[in-house]
Amino acid sequence: MIREYTDIDLTPRNSFRVRQRAARLVEFDTADDLRSLFADGGPARWTVLSGGNNILFTRDYDGVLLTPVACGIETLDDDGCTALVRVDAGVEWDDLVEWAVARGLWGIENLSLIPGKAGAAPVQNIGAYGCEAKDAIERVHLFRTDTLREETLEAAACRFGYRESIFKHELRGRAVITAIEIRLSHTAAPKLGYGDVEREVAARGGATLRNIREAITAIRRAKLPDPAERGNAGSFFKNPVVDRSVADALSDSWPDMPRYPAADPSKVKLAAGWLIDRAGMKGYAEGRVGVHERQALVLVNLGGATGGEVIAFARRVQQAVGERFGIAIDTEVNIL
Ligand code: EPU
Repeated sequence: MIREYTDIDLTPRNSFRVRQRAARLVEFDTADDLRSLFADGGPARWTVLSGGNNILFTRDYDGVLLTPVACGIETLDDDGCTALVRVDAGVEWDDLVEWAVARGLWGIENLSLIPGKAGAAPVQNIGAYGCEAKDAIERVHLFRTDTLREETLEAAACRFGYRESIFKHELRGRAVITAIEIRLSHTAAPKLGYGDVEREVAARGGATLRNIREAITAIRRAKLPDPAERGNAGSFFKNPVVDRSVADALSDSWPDMPRYPAADPSKVKLAAGWLIDRAGMKGYAEGRVGVHERQALVLVNLGGATGGEVIAFARRVQQAVGERFGIAIDTEVNIL
């Protein structure tokens, strides 16, 4: 079913809480809904607005925003070892994690409390605490707005990378994700190697699914601002992936600099939060925008900031990191 709104206030629909408007917003359930919308050419300008957790509106949107609202979760197959689960695009990601944990299914517990909807998870291959959505996603169902056909993309064709996928590139503006299928396991496979996870899990009595979910939730709550209190979109920047020689040169000057393996062995992933922090920007604010005091990767709306103010502030942060370390950090947030 389609529900349409015109000249709509986006404030409650974007976690940055910037006060912009959209000419039209369409909530849809199925691929058939999308087909009816895109028949006869479809809207000249459109984009998907899912949970609004990874988007920054810098001006009013003069096209059509498409919001998935279908929220079914269905087990397609369960052989006692693994379960294949189909999840509609409109399911809240964290509701899905709770659903899996309540059924003893492993695979996405480290992705607890990530804001956003299931249909957005493959787009930037959401990740946290040593786990990424791609580890569980088996295939993605989508509607092609150029051919008006439904398609299913196997995970291998989605070109998942660190906060990357085909949906940000070749399929951008051509496809709307309607559902995902994820493979979960009945066999315990705790991933505790990242940061404080092992200690927080041990403090709760050991590596059960429930304890891991609670530990991750607590770690996130402690570090990340609640968008209900302070508008934000999680990590505003991506962690930069640089040549090993660049990382080595920086490590010589800053031996405590965190470094992580990158998919390409000749590269190293650095922590943008650390770089911003050491560039002296953590907690820094100008006007109505600031760098979060407890996690420098996150920019916060201190109240009433416009998207334009946020992006201008973000440029200052990028500049500070560039001047201090010679490293360019890119935005993770989708800027419109
Ligand atoms: N750090 C600082 N100061 C800061 C922030 C971080 O020194 O203000 C240091 C930390 O001490 C640590 C390193 O930088 O040594 C990495 O920090 P953290 O573990 O907090 O993770 P991150 O790299 O800053 C990434 C994701 C987060 C995810 C965490 C945990 C990206 C862009 N961000 O952050 O994802 O929750 O790892 O896995 O990859 C998001 O995408 O919105 C998000 C919150």
